[in-house]
Amino acid sequence: MAVIADRCPHIQVTVVDLNAARIAAWNDPDLSKLPVYEPGLDAVVGRCRGRNLHFSTAVEPAIAAADMVFLSVNTPTKTKGVGAGQASDLRWIEASARQVAACAQGHTIVVEKSTLPVRTAATIKAILGAAQGDAAQAGEAKSFSVLSNPEFLAEGTAITDLEHPDRVLIGGEDPAAIEALAAIYGAWVPADRILRTNLWSSELSKLTANCFLAQRISSINAIAAVCEATGADVQEVARAIGADSRIGAKFLKAGPGFGGSCFQKDVLNLVYLCGHYGLHEVAAYWQSVVALNDWQQHRIARLVVQRLFGTVTGKRIAVLGFAFKADTNDTREAPAIRICRDLLEEGAQLAIYDPKVSEAQMATDLAQEPQPAPAGNGLSGEGVWQLAASAEAAATGADAVLILTEWRQFAELDWPGLAALMRHPAWLFDARAIADAEAAAAAGLNLWTVGRG
Ligand code: UDX
Repeated sequence: MAVIADRCPHIQVTVVDLNAARIAAWNDPDLSKLPVYEPGLDAVVGRCRGRNLHFSTAVEPAIAAADMVFLSVNTPTKTKGVGAGQASDLRWIEASARQVAACAQGHTIVVEKSTLPVRTAATIKAILGAAQGDAAQAGEAKSFSVLSNPEFLAEGTAITDLEHPDRVLIGGEDPAAIEALAAIYGAWVPADRILRTNLWSSELSKLTANCFLAQRISSINAIAAVCEATGADVQEVARAIGADSRIGAKFLKAGPGFGGSCFQKDVLNLVYLCGHYGLHEVAAYWQSVVALNDWQQHRIARLVVQRLFGTVTGKRIAVLGFAFKADTNDTREAPAIRICRDLLEEGAQLAIYDPKVSEAQMATDLAQEPQPAPAGNGLSGEGVWQLAASAEAAATGADAVLILTEWRQFAELDWPGLAALMRHPAWLFDARAIADAEAAAAAGLNLWTVGRG
């Protein structure tokens, strides 16, 4: 919405949320305090806020005044009931559709922006259609058009992705509504990149795009394990296959598995959809993408234990990186969560350093409070963790350094300096293949790098 406001100064954009603390943070005069860390976002918000970009908790008047409403609420995987663990929880979509139905005035275009299971637009249309009927009986003019406009941005590069999208996808049935939305994007997106489809194709394209991307990561991680077993190097293999223009070079980095708010959720959504339509072989095919991802994470935790003489009980391990990828403070489905939990289960002492993730977030994700810090730099006992202030602080006294997020600074670590702080024999486990392996080896560390045999 900030980018739309930036590119379309003639449009008034109001972002509303019931969460007053969150809206207050979006209105904070100090732009470094915005609730989402995203490179370049602060500058865009700084340019537009108060001009044609507003943040407010006054949901109802904003809906009443709007010509177009974007539904951009959370759709996490259901944790209980029918479809638990696979289907999306649509309670917030339904609640916001009902609120739009109640408050809208005149003709309103309702845009699904959240990633949704296929045919959710039907639910939204049914709710809005009922309101339209009630309004007609009461002699009020109230009507709706529903569009699907999925978002393909990736975190960390969101602003550039939005400013230079590969494509914008608009699904719908009402040509006038489609053109109204296309005109907004047309302010900065070339016309041939604005694709128009029917509603279901648009919804399914979003799921499919994420499933294909997730599948590529599971595929390269599967090959990484073969490389480690056979003495090949997955980076060389990725370069060799990526040179084939039919395969392409992107999204071929082996690592600790995919995280983030979308991939697992969307693959599981597709699995659920296939199950619903009786396409069990198709469901099993996509399920294996998630299964491989889970396996990769457990595999990494297991191999750390094995190399550290079969036990990490009471051993200090420096974990570098907790976010699901670099340049974000987001930890949703981060591979670090499962790997750290496995190591805590094995009795390890984890000193975790991440440039952006807070201690409170780690405590929530690990479902365990940090050990209260004694004087000095201590962790004691088994299955305990603490936040470390730097990579050096984390590595002090550690038997191993485990890199889980590809933050730039981890490519530039001073290995002779770090090695001198560690207990020997010491290990570097590099799950992102980002560290200077030669320097680490020269500093006397034993080395495991993902996909390198
Ligand atoms: C993704 C999609 O890219 C985006 O189009 C969609 O709108 C939302 O989901 P995002 O979750 O922000 O975006 O991150 P992305 O950069 O795609 O990375 C997802 C995960 O895959 C991360 O954990 C990342 O580390 C991992 N990954 C990515 C790899 O392990 N290897 C790769 O080659 C690429």
